[in-house]
Amino acid sequence: MQSEQNYVNVDDYIQNIYTKNRQKYIETGKKPGMKCITYGCQANAHDSEKICGLLSKMGYEVCGHEEDAAIIIYNTCCVRENAENRVFGNLGQIKKLKSENKDLKVILCGCMVQQDAIVEKIKQSYRFVDVIFGTFNLHKLPVLLYTNMETNSQIIDIWQGAKEAEDDLPALREFKFKASVNIMHGCDNFCAYCIVPYVRGRERSRAPESIINEVEALAKDGVVEVTLLGQNVNSYGKGLPGNVSFANLLGRVAKIDGVKRIRFMTSHPKDFSDELIETIKSNDNVCKHVHLPLQSGSTAVLEKMNRKYSKESYLELVSKLREAIPNIAITTDIITGFPGETDIDNEETINLIKKVQYAGAFTFIYSKRTGTPAAAMDCQIDEETIKRRFDKILNTLNPIVYEISKSHVGNTYEVLAEEVSKSDTGLLTGRLDDNSLVHFKGGEAFIGSFVNVKIIDCKTFYLMGKIMEG
Ligand code: SAH
Ligand code: SF4
Ligand code: F3S
Repeated sequence: MQSEQNYVNVDDYIQNIYTKNRQKYIETGKKPGMKCITYGCQANAHDSEKICGLLSKMGYEVCGHEEDAAIIIYNTCCVRENAENRVFGNLGQIKKLKSENKDLKVILCGCMVQQDAIVEKIKQSYRFVDVIFGTFNLHKLPVLLYTNMETNSQIIDIWQGAKEAEDDLPALREFKFKASVNIMHGCDNFCAYCIVPYVRGRERSRAPESIINEVEALAKDGVVEVTLLGQNVNSYGKGLPGNVSFANLLGRVAKIDGVKRIRFMTSHPKDFSDELIETIKSNDNVCKHVHLPLQSGSTAVLEKMNRKYSKESYLELVSKLREAIPNIAITTDIITGFPGETDIDNEETINLIKKVQYAGAFTFIYSKRTGTPAAAMDCQIDEETIKRRFDKILNTLNPIVYEISKSHVGNTYEVLAEEVSKSDTGLLTGRLDDNSLVHFKGGEAFIGSFVNVKIIDCKTFYLMGKIMEG
């Protein structure tokens, strides 16, 4: 039990800020705007939905531009250096806005600020940031923001691990018809290049009942597509009582009425069970797409990366998946330029790309992250060599992705219409079951529903289609 002294009722702080904002609303006829800028992975995007959920309870309303906002939130990522640089670039620009509008609040949160050196830098050079909190204490935002409002000083609260319930915050969902659900937090894998375990803490699985309840409530609220999130969903259940596995959880989620599509990410190749393959195969509403990060096709590099699988075992898993589910789409992540990587290692990655025939891939240039084992390894690779290898990878991947894309042309698929296309407002954008992106003509009324779309053309990274009757 918490001592009375330490006990803070977050709801009281929400109410206090709501009262202030309500007063402003009465004076101006306008709710104060919030603008949340999110970097990084889907876990971060989902955290942002929770942050916005809290802020909307405090009386803020989503607005389109930083210039119109009363509060700007940067939910940051530090997985690669360029993600951090973008945040610093944005903060530099916001300084001007802040000097023009003394009431503007600037909040910095997420993975980047879990690093001491970054917090020091903010303290020294970005005094105008009002509130800084990390990945373990989103729920404290109302307390921190209110304290800043009262004291007008920079408030910093970073925890080093999870102490309190993380999953009972209300999310302000970006989409009405699709939602993400955390099934676990953190990561225990410690891949040698990766900072995530240091900034997201140890792996913690949520109780299956709590996940099922959340998905049931979402389905009742009109959600038709659910994405189950975890850094390594395949190890779900570790540390929970009873015999719970990801395959078992996925099977249970698939039985929930109203959930038409289930996606999940990310699958670590080292513990992808036969039971999971069977569950994907036997449930029509589990999407036939697996994101299976390879990182490198060289067993020697994989070993140095601490990935715990070999080139051969990865290929064996791919064959098993394809044998069981012939139409499954496999996508991946690849890192070029891990310390000690040779041209021969790069050729091995290229061979593997050819063998697997990926439907898509995120390709990254290795980024040295302070505090990870790889940062201290000998033989960091020079930029020119990395660039040469990286281009070779792309030149191998893109034609393969294009051929797979082309194989859809002429077929008709059920597509979930998701939004108006960002590049052409006359088009809608949706996804096939296998996660391929498709643009097609259609009115906004289709958004959130399933439509039959015939694929009429393709580019490497997307398809063009037209809605069919019926
Ligand atoms: N948990 C997921 C990935 C999370 S990070 C998994 O293991 O698959 C997403 C991707 O970023 C990783 O798959 C990896 O390809 C890339 N990545 C992580 N750290 C990196 C680094 N230091 N430099 C370059 N890419 C990195
Ligand atoms: Fe990072 Fe590896 Fe964990 Fe993925 S599994 S988050 S790459 S440490
Ligand atoms: Fe995600 Fe980036 Fe954090 S990839 S977990 S937001 S470091």
